[in-house]
Amino acid sequence: MDFRPIAEYEFDGYINVLSHVFAWDPKPEEVELERKQIELDRTVGAFDGDTIVGTGANLTFEMTVPGGSLPAGGVTAIGVLPSHRRRGILSEMMRRLLDDSRDHEEPLSILWASEASIYGRYGFGVTTRSARREIARSHAKIDGDRPPAVRLIDKDEALQVFPEIYENVRRRFPGMIARTPGKWEVDLADLESWRDGYTANRFALYDAGDGPAGYARYRIKERWEAGQPKSELLVAEVVAGDDSAYRDLWRFLFGVDLIETVKLRGRPTREPLDHMLADPRRLTTSIHEGIWLRILDVERALAGRRYRIDGSLVIEVVGPDDVAGRYLLEGGPDGADCRRTDKTPDIAVPVKELGMAYLGAFDFATMAHAGVVDGDQTAIRRADLMFSWHEPTWCTVGF
Ligand SMILES: CC(C)(COP(=O)(O)OP(=O)(O)OC[C@H]1O[C@@H](n2cnc3c(N)ncnc32)[C@H](O)[C@@H]1OP(=O)(O)O)[C@@H](O)C(=O)NCCC(=O)NCCS
Repeated sequence: MDFRPIAEYEFDGYINVLSHVFAWDPKPEEVELERKQIELDRTVGAFDGDTIVGTGANLTFEMTVPGGSLPAGGVTAIGVLPSHRRRGILSEMMRRLLDDSRDHEEPLSILWASEASIYGRYGFGVTTRSARREIARSHAKIDGDRPPAVRLIDKDEALQVFPEIYENVRRRFPGMIARTPGKWEVDLADLESWRDGYTANRFALYDAGDGPAGYARYRIKERWEAGQPKSELLVAEVVAGDDSAYRDLWRFLFGVDLIETVKLRGRPTREPLDHMLADPRRLTTSIHEGIWLRILDVERALAGRRYRIDGSLVIEVVGPDDVAGRYLLEGGPDGADCRRTDKTPDIAVPVKELGMAYLGAFDFATMAHAGVVDGDQTAIRRADLMFSWHEPTWCTVGF
């Protein structure tokens, strides 16, 4: 078995693997989009003779961390043909992809996992959480004394105005990923095969006179029953730069006629909407995992975020050789420093669990009760006070 990057002329072989492992019959326009977002020099192919039997790739990203933003390699397109599974091909590809991230000086590696059982062994842990919500429109009324300052725009205008709004908002929420122009093109491509019976994307822009400050992207699935409108409105994205934009966008979405149910996808686990409805219990919620994170460079990762309170902590990172060791973290709301030390550790954390606590989505105390994190209660409490953050984790970008 040979492992090397996939060349341009071998791209069909790459698509062939993905089509087998994801039960996907690719359409030409889907192949074209895949080619647009993939960085061939950051791919890895497993070759059995001339045939590609395994694929993986890194995408170059920048991810928001509490109080900052860091380079992150986005692992994607992981697949091994069913004829070649469980021979160690994924493990070799992951070793190469994590090395590739280190070569690109990315302290973080991130991914969306198809199954929760795959990536823990490589040091990845869930680092953002995501809420799916649903409400009957009859219970979704939000009062207001004037019509929402929202207008509908087309895709070309959306591609022009959304990026600036998104870029400002994404810096607030740990886990958000910066979208490049190419990523915008892919995310708004809106191929027929992606719609699952819903309409094409509808784009709504909030502008109260001071320039665009928020947007919503949604689709509708039309349905009638016994002469009654029963359509569904699926909210793909609401990104608001300020509270007025946020309130008006939801007022607009909940005001669309002929809708029976509004479904919200990929929302943060805590948001103002819960306090804007007369009967919030009607807005049902299920919490799901978001993206997974592997810390590759502990010093850069921990120094690259800010902390909720001032404090210092000696952390023993338990795990593979590339990260194992003791680190002295001194940090607070204005910045942080982290370096290797030989001092006695306050807490001992596997790299996977450090990744889970890194953005504030999970706390050390709960992990200590589970027996996966060690340390006395005072140190664990200090660690949680430092690592927690005032905004929830969130990631709306798939890859
Ligand atoms: C997941 C997948 C890439 C694994 O590839 P593979 O080459 O068979 O994996 P490896 O042989 O390198 O397995 C390495 C280890 O992971 C385990 N493993 C691999 N896939 C697993 C899975 N889906 N669930 C649980 N364990 C898994 C193996 O048992 C092995 O464990 P070990 O080290 O204790 O022996 C492959 O099964 C696949 O393509 N699945 C469908 C597509 C998919 O889900 N891709 C991931 C997208 S995020």
